[in-house]
Amino acid sequence: MREKAIYDVGEMPPLGHVPKAMHAIVIRKDREGEPQTAMQHEQMPVPAIGPNEVLVYVMGAGVNFNGVWAARGKPVSIMKSTGDDFHIAGSDASGIVWKVGSNVKRWKVGDEVVVHCNQSCGQCPECNGLDPMACAEQKIWGYETNWGSFAQFTKVQAQQLLPKPRHLSWMDAASYGLTYFTAYRMLVDQAEMKAGDNVLVWGASGGLGIFAVQLCKVMGANAIAVVSSPAKAELAKSLGAKWTINRKDYDFARRENETPEQTKHRLAETRRLGKAIREMTGGKDVDIVFEHVGRETFPTSVLLAKRFGKIVICGATSGYHLDFDVRHLWMRQKQILGSHFANAYEATRANQLIIEGKVVPYLDATYAFDDTPRAHQDMAENKHMGKMAIAVGAAAELHAEEPEEAAGYEESMQENVPAF
Ligand SMILES: NC(=O)c1ccc[n+]([C@@H]2O[C@H](COP(=O)([O-])OP(=O)(O)OC[C@H]3O[C@@H](n4cnc5c(N)ncnc54)[C@H](OP(=O)(O)O)[C@@H]3O)[C@@H](O)[C@H]2O)c1
Repeated sequence: MREKAIYDVGEMPPLGHVPKAMHAIVIRKDREGEPQTAMQHEQMPVPAIGPNEVLVYVMGAGVNFNGVWAARGKPVSIMKSTGDDFHIAGSDASGIVWKVGSNVKRWKVGDEVVVHCNQSCGQCPECNGLDPMACAEQKIWGYETNWGSFAQFTKVQAQQLLPKPRHLSWMDAASYGLTYFTAYRMLVDQAEMKAGDNVLVWGASGGLGIFAVQLCKVMGANAIAVVSSPAKAELAKSLGAKWTINRKDYDFARRENETPEQTKHRLAETRRLGKAIREMTGGKDVDIVFEHVGRETFPTSVLLAKRFGKIVICGATSGYHLDFDVRHLWMRQKQILGSHFANAYEATRANQLIIEGKVVPYLDATYAFDDTPRAHQDMAENKHMGKMAIAVGAAAELHAEEPEEAAGYEESMQENVPAF
């Protein structure tokens, strides 16, 4: 094929040929706002790589809530910290190694990979003894850095690469890294989940939740899946949840400027929920609460955790200023654990469970490259279940945009996951 300065989306250049320019979905400072308008298709230069970096030809790009935050420029505008006037978001990718830096020995041009999204300096004591997540320069690629995955090429640190599970399509492979590896660290390393634990999982059919539920199943814990519709409950069940709760049946959400009567009502509703959980579990309270909703659910999470129980939290979709009655925490000696993404070791161990078919991605919808803004808008409006991915190089793989039937998914789970 003739070498060109730029290729159409889905048109693969000759292996290893780096064109001058690429198609990208770009956020600009002057149009920050809802994803539908903030994200626009532009042509950008292909980024140069450093000695420890790799240029990846993006086949599929996963959609995450951080793309919504990046588009809105809230709670912080990413361009303020990068100092650039553009932002290419995207913290999940599957793709092909296209060019490697001079120090890169573990990967070669042509390798098929998925990308984990933690970047760190690699040189400090924290990176070399404690945990790269503790590095002062730790950043989430594609959120706190430019050159994320919503483009034909992305620039990553070599340590971010993991082998692509061979049995997965490019789109499935693009969909799971950020949320799955985050859920893995939260439950396995931070909360130290054990067989037999009862784990309350908020948003159990969402990006984090679908993996939290599966990890509970794999590790012999019991997921109590909280969702907001019967279809979502069905999905959570098919992924291995032991019990499901429709949050719409309770009125426990923490609201702004509550009156004393409203607070009393909320606490009564939380206790009613606790009673329902104990009826499910045979009288047991929850050992671990898997939190990422934040303001609206956090007081409930603190109250529902058992004595000495743990609340592990990585996000705050409904607001990040949390308030709760701290007596519910100290009197029963509960622990709140902050958690953020995962390190390369955790990502590798979690990826192995995908390679072995013990944990599977659930791709709800696939979108064409130019529909990247719409995909984020759908996520912002909570219209999805599971994960969504964008076809970049894998445009040919783009099949139906219709959500898969949960029942069909269950069948494929049975084929892939003999241990379940
Ligand atoms: N720090 C990290 O490393 C990290 C990593 C991944 C994600 N996050 C953050 O975690 C959050 C969730 O991410 P995600 O990918 O799982 O998002 P998601 O796919 O949108 O799923 C979130 C789920 O939360 C539930 N939910 C939304 N609003 C709620 C409310 N007011 N009360 C109760 N449940 C509510 C929804 O399920 P139902 O409507 O069915 O209840 C939804 O499916 C985001 O804020 C994201 O930025 C942080």
